[in-house]
Amino acid sequence: MIPPAFVEELLARVDIVEIVGRQVQLRKAGANHMGLCPFHAEKGPSFSVSAAKQFYHCFGCGAHGNAIGFLMEQGGLGFIEAVKELAGTVGMNVPQEDEDPESRNRAQQARARQASLGEVLEHAAGFYREQLKTGNAAVAYLKRRGLSGEVTRQFGIGYAPDSWRPLATTFARYDDPLLVESGLVILSGDVGDEQKRYDRFRGRIMFPIRSVKGEVIGFGGRVLDQGEPKYLNSPETPLFVKGRELYGLFEARQGLRARGHALVVEGYMDVVALAQLGISNAVATLGTACTAEHIQKLLRFTDSIVFSFDGDAAGRRAAARALEAALPHASDTRQFRFLFLPPEHDPDSFVREHGAPAFELQIKQALALSRQLTNVAGEGCDMATPEGRARLLANARPLWQALPDAGVLKRQVLAELASLGQMDVADLAEAWGVGQRTTAPRGRVPPQRTAVPATKLRSRPAGPAEHALCLLLQHNEWWDRLSPQDHDLLHRLPSNDGELCAWLERQLHEHGPQPWGTLEAALHGHALQAAAQRVMGRMAAQDEGAFEDLRSVVNLLWREQLVARSHELAAQAGSDPAARAEYSAVLARLNALKTAAS
Ligand code: UTP
Ligand code: MN
Repeated sequence: MIPPAFVEELLARVDIVEIVGRQVQLRKAGANHMGLCPFHAEKGPSFSVSAAKQFYHCFGCGAHGNAIGFLMEQGGLGFIEAVKELAGTVGMNVPQEDEDPESRNRAQQARARQASLGEVLEHAAGFYREQLKTGNAAVAYLKRRGLSGEVTRQFGIGYAPDSWRPLATTFARYDDPLLVESGLVILSGDVGDEQKRYDRFRGRIMFPIRSVKGEVIGFGGRVLDQGEPKYLNSPETPLFVKGRELYGLFEARQGLRARGHALVVEGYMDVVALAQLGISNAVATLGTACTAEHIQKLLRFTDSIVFSFDGDAAGRRAAARALEAALPHASDTRQFRFLFLPPEHDPDSFVREHGAPAFELQIKQALALSRQLTNVAGEGCDMATPEGRARLLANARPLWQALPDAGVLKRQVLAELASLGQMDVADLAEAWGVGQRTTAPRGRVPPQRTAVPATKLRSRPAGPAEHALCLLLQHNEWWDRLSPQDHDLLHRLPSNDGELCAWLERQLHEHGPQPWGTLEAALHGHALQAAAQRVMGRMAAQDEGAFEDLRSVVNLLWREQLVARSHELAAQAGSDPAARAEYSAVLARLNALKTAAS
């Protein structure tokens, strides 16, 4: 799989205006660029490309997406191919491509290595937990912090004894390179010279950090009382990427569902204290700001996120960053809210001093995203003067632009800003160069690009995408048996099929495997209901199939993609050595698929 961080970095480096501009003639119109939509026939331009948001959107047919999506839709590329092509334009190398047998082998080895890293971490976590049984200073410390035995066990909290090599007593080989690779042991001194090994975590309370699946991927360690640094975290490893992981997410899965939202806090202790007092839906970033990737991850579990911040200046800065990360994800149906505690408190101290009901009240009173936006924009502005109001609007503009165009939230916020700035909304729209189409569709809803007439659908034979979906809707437990690359492929299926896969994955995370009947009920009134029913209706529902059937239709999807790609590459292979190399890799992959099929 291509690491999400790479994709994010890639999208940050390319310019969608340039990418789209190669295929579509674009003209600057206000903040955006406009042109004739390449996805539907039209005479007047309703296709807009936003440099600020790095997104394209067609007001005529509803097509939208980022630079990768554009290459996929327009060039008919698969996700991986699109990423590669894009990376080529900015001279970046795509890591971990495993399309030819050799690199697939390498990827397999990497996976095996990750599995053994996981085992090492798991074993260490067990050892640290054991250390609490002897009733030492660590137990006294946890008691003093008010942690119950139950919550300590639930989060797998442990203790790393205060000596140089505690782990030497539990691992058969202290010089196992995996101990260094997992970040548990530090190797100092130059190779050849006398190298010294010692434990990274000594004399610390150990918080295991778990993946969504519950596997230990790293640790946070807190000193008992005084000492520097207060928290020591595992270094990043192939398993552990800080900007992607959230502490407590595994433990919060139930709570997210039961409470209907996620609570994002700053510290390990906050998560644990809240959980102990029944607020079981808290997660924490790992000493970093909340990233768009964190938000994306949480949105797989819930549509509603409350960010909690300390009431001091640092908390306000963190909140401004979280706002920026959240804005592009905001929509009419998603909720982001911002909770500010009194300056002297963090969630841990607040909930212990005032109790859970008081904290619940804080959650209830959390500020809506739009309100947080105007607060951030208005900081230090004297709203009694035209200058102050103009400054607020200038500050607000990039934030407002980061909101997605779909739905009405963006227009709602525009109206709100206009009223704060004591301006007519039409004047503000004009001042900001907002095209009429974004501000005033006047009840006209752009046609859904996937709304093909039902008759047309029924007459078209079901393709492998629908077959795959049909099997997955009946056997969601098979999802986890597919590879991450397969997951990518399925997520990127065009139109509703990809969205349906994403929905299904989330259902699976939230509820575990469910029969079609239950899913059907869950889809009731959902935007994807029709799509799912179409898939199930089109396929012979009595034909349940086996996992091997799913495997082979997914392989078919790969083949479709690879064949299309090979045609393209064949055309370029004469002049371009890179195309030639990719061409043979694609052919090798195709051959492997054919062999697997026969
Ligand atoms: P805080 O300093 O607010 O700690 O750091 P806390 O969670 O309230 O901890 P207690 O209550 O004193 O035990 C918040 C988070 O920032 C990261 C950790 O993830 C911590 O939970 N942090 C903090 C570090 O990574 N390193 C540090 O030295 C301090
Ligand atoms: Mn604290």
